[in-house]
Amino acid sequence: MKRLVSGIQPSGNLTLGNYLGAIKQFIALQEELSETEFFIFIADLHAITVSQDKTALRKNIRSLAALYLACGLDPKKVHLFIQSEVIEHNQLGYIMESTVYVPELERMTQYKDKKLKQQAGIRSNLLTYPALMAADILLYDADIVPVGEDQKQHLELTRNLAERFNQQHGDTFIVPEPFTPKVGGKIMSLTDPTKKMSKSDDNQKAVVYLLDDLNQIKNKIKSAVTDSDTKIRYNVKDKPGISNLLTIYSLISGLKIPELEQMYENSNYATFKSDLAEKLAEYLRPIQERYHALLASPELDTVLDEGRDAAKRVAYKKIMKVYKRLGLGRIK
Ligand code: TYM
Repeated sequence: MKRLVSGIQPSGNLTLGNYLGAIKQFIALQEELSETEFFIFIADLHAITVSQDKTALRKNIRSLAALYLACGLDPKKVHLFIQSEVIEHNQLGYIMESTVYVPELERMTQYKDKKLKQQAGIRSNLLTYPALMAADILLYDADIVPVGEDQKQHLELTRNLAERFNQQHGDTFIVPEPFTPKVGGKIMSLTDPTKKMSKSDDNQKAVVYLLDDLNQIKNKIKSAVTDSDTKIRYNVKDKPGISNLLTIYSLISGLKIPELEQMYENSNYATFKSDLAEKLAEYLRPIQERYHALLASPELDTVLDEGRDAAKRVAYKKIMKVYKRLGLGRIK
């Protein structure tokens, strides 16, 4: 049986980029890939590359679990769990640190970007983070890893590490395939459509959060930066603002981008944005309602307990195999 693995950091509110680039893909795939076992987790260990308030982190972990389910993740088909509850992630993470070389880590774009932003007090796990991410994936022998474009470089490194380990110690890991959606792999900021929509953006108008008040969401879409001419046409290079909005519109409506271009051929930006604002608010309304109901229900803990136990069964076997390959402990 094939396996699919993916995770999201519980660092605050989830964005529309996280949803369209990742969660929406998991939901679609859980229907399409009936012969695949899904492991989806909350990457809380990854969140402590920067300082976290413990009350907020605890709240964010729970919130992300509820949001996954509210978006349509089916716990009957998916093992949903919290990364730090499966200790094997740390164990294999450390071993991956001994498989990767420092220059490979220093080359990671995300590290370089975050280092520039942070300057002082850079934690060592900001650098070693991709080793833990490789462990997250390789522990489960994942064949498919759906992620947005910003994570593709980490996945490429994971593939290299799997191959290196297999070569040095004998076949141990499956080399995973990235799975980035053709449309939606990179949702851009609403105020600067040349930049990724990101949780860490200082400008709140740049980012739609899934749990934003619906009127606020409408206003953000209506005030999104568009391009100088007035035509509603998809062209990322010349019209990045309208192209980003067309991508969002297409993904939430199921209409293809050429169909939307035709629908709005004789229209204008204001009408287009106002329609998209309404559609997006209506799309997110039931997700928000389910989210609030789930947060208050005991179902969440049952799902997370079952997910943890299923993940542990697979991860424990794998880490024992790795220890044996390396000669660690007393395993023969
Ligand atoms: P994170 O938490 O930053 O993002 C979670 C997922 O959302 C995608 N994403 C986007 N997709 C499209 N447009 C955007 N603007 C956008 N912003 C974020 C990300 O590509 C990602 O798929 N290191 C990972 C979490 C992780 C992981 C893993 C993922 C840890 N271990 C193992 C897969 C497998 C991260 O920080 O994602």
